[in-house]
Amino acid sequence: MNTENPVPQPVLQPLCASDDLQERGRAVAFDVLQYGEPARGFALRFDGQAVAYLNRCAHVPTEMDWQEGEFLDGDKSYIMCSIHGAVYDPLTGRCVTGMCGRSGLTKIELNERNGQVFWVPTRDTRPATKDKKID
Ligand code: FES
Repeated sequence: MNTENPVPQPVLQPLCASDDLQERGRAVAFDVLQYGEPARGFALRFDGQAVAYLNRCAHVPTEMDWQEGEFLDGDKSYIMCSIHGAVYDPLTGRCVTGMCGRSGLTKIELNERNGQVFWVPTRDTRPATKDKKID
C-alpha cells in the first residue's frame, strides 16, 4: 500500500501582464493575507527582473509607497520607504541604509512566463482570493 502523500502542485496567483511592469516604473499592487491578516504586496521591474515584496516597512509595519505604486527613490536606484526613508535593495529587499535594521522586506516569489506574471503563495503569505491552479 502506498502511504505517500502526493506532492502538492504549485498554486500560482495571476498578478499582471509582463508589460504592466515597466523598467523602474510604477509598481503593481495586489492583495494578500499575511498570517491570515489582509495586507498588500507590490511588484515592480528592476534591471529587467520582476520582483515583489510585502508592502510593509521593516522599521514600522506600515505601507511604504510615496504615492500609490511609487516605491523608488528619486534616482530610481532603490526602494525607499516614504515614512522615514529606509532604503532597500530592489532586487533582494535587503536593507541598504536607514532604520530597517538587519531585516529587509518580505520577498514574494514571482513566476513570469508567456507574458504573464504570477506570484507564489507560501504558508505565511496566502491569496486574498480563491486559489487558481496553473498547469
Ligand atoms: S516606517 Fe519605513 S523607515 Fe520608518
